[in-house]
Amino acid sequence: FNVPKAVNEPVKSYAPNSPEKAAVLAAYKKMWDSKIDVPLYIGSEEIRTGNTRNMTAPHDHKHVVGTYHLAEKSHIEKAIANALEAKTKWANMAWEQRAAIFLKAAELIAGPYRAKINAATMIAQSKNIFQAEIDAACEFIDFLRYNVEFMTQIYADQPKSTSDVWNRLEYRPLEGFVYAITPFNFTAIAGNLPASAAMMGNVVVWKPSDSQVFSAKIIIDIFKEAGLPDGVINVVFGDALMITDTVLASRDFAGVHFTGSTHVFKDIWAKIGANIHHYKTYPRIVGETGGKDFVLAHPSANVKQVSTGIVRGAFEFQGQKCSAASRAYIPKSMWPALKDQLITDVKSMKMGSPEDFGNFITAVIHEGSFDKLASYIDQAKKDADAEIIVGGNYDKSVGYFIEPTIIVTTNPHYTTMETELFGPVLTLFVYEDAKWEETLKLVDSTSEYALTGAIFSKDRYAIEQATVALQNAAGNFYINDKPTGAVVGMQPFGGARASGTNDKAGSALNLLRWASPRTIKETF
Ligand code: ALA
Repeated sequence: FNVPKAVNEPVKSYAPNSPEKAAVLAAYKKMWDSKIDVPLYIGSEEIRTGNTRNMTAPHDHKHVVGTYHLAEKSHIEKAIANALEAKTKWANMAWEQRAAIFLKAAELIAGPYRAKINAATMIAQSKNIFQAEIDAACEFIDFLRYNVEFMTQIYADQPKSTSDVWNRLEYRPLEGFVYAITPFNFTAIAGNLPASAAMMGNVVVWKPSDSQVFSAKIIIDIFKEAGLPDGVINVVFGDALMITDTVLASRDFAGVHFTGSTHVFKDIWAKIGANIHHYKTYPRIVGETGGKDFVLAHPSANVKQVSTGIVRGAFEFQGQKCSAASRAYIPKSMWPALKDQLITDVKSMKMGSPEDFGNFITAVIHEGSFDKLASYIDQAKKDADAEIIVGGNYDKSVGYFIEPTIIVTTNPHYTTMETELFGPVLTLFVYEDAKWEETLKLVDSTSEYALTGAIFSKDRYAIEQATVALQNAAGNFYINDKPTGAVVGMQPFGGARASGTNDKAGSALNLLRWASPRTIKETF
């Protein structure tokens, strides 16, 4: 198959006086006051239902950036009907035509839409420019380029034939439509979930997070400009439960591509189970859910490296990554030096609004998240077995700002060692050096999740021990690096246990879930 070789999009520097910095700030300013009004995108129509909600910026929550329209049940049914109608042509289109649309979309993001999609991500998801660039520009582009390459690898995988029998596998899309549900925290995931299913010839009903409407609008603009036919990806906003129940009630529901919380995914799974006799086909259930991701330091590890791994792993992106480090295990011999280093490193991070490029930490996504984080911090201030060594302040008067916070606990099963908080709060337990092997068991058994984890060590034997002992504890396992920042084409991403179905975003494994192959045997 002759497709352009996928390359990772280089991350731009946004240095002072750089053209990209000027462009993104200009886009930010324009969008800030744009009062954008986002409709539903169903088939060829942009539907304004009149039932609207405001979009606000997490770092300035009184500022209304725009509005978006909420669907009723009839709109979801219409979206399904439009998707199925579009499918008759889309599913039978040559793969090159589909691939070309998504490759063109990647070039549009790399060029004319880069400043816009980054600015929307900065405003509505409160990411600093470096986080926005890595997510909304580079990772999104990488997903599109690499998935096209993975798609051709899948198509190339064919059974053996003989001179008189020609066997082939035809990678058909699923029979029906796919439901994509995307989270607030990644613009790249928002784009990838509907796009990867669509690329394989499927049609999609896509429900973005309420906190992601701004970037979702730009994503659909990009896909349409790249030539995506009407009805292939339909975008709906509104009451998540109503939308899901309407989608799952359809006999043509063929699969769900989900990123979000564990309990929502389990509820969807249970509903699919309850409806199973009703469906035409067994639906594909693909989900990436929560994490309680660990950093484990061996006594041999380098202190500065461990501190950087914890601070970047836990606090970049305000800790709002399913992969973010949120529990750490540190040997007693390392603790005094590491404690000083952590406090220094955390105190060097500036917090504030994303339009100031010097700010490392910005606001968390919404009031619900802020209140939850604040309540765990308050509890830690009271508990005898917990101590906050840095951070611990918060303020929601203008935006939802939570200081990067480290809680040290003497109890390895302390609440915040086990509960996913999804914010800039890390809990740390100091273990006796002699209890290394016990600690491996503790790391493995403490959490119901198994998404990411990192071990820091110079001792190869310890690395080997941890690699084996923690083989089910993390779908992405990092040796001497932070447990975040998987790059498409390099570290396929996903975890098991309560973290998801481990179908590895950004890999052929994921794309295969969106195919229902037909075997053809032709005898001459
Ligand atoms: N894929 C993202 C990471 O690895 C979530 O951090």
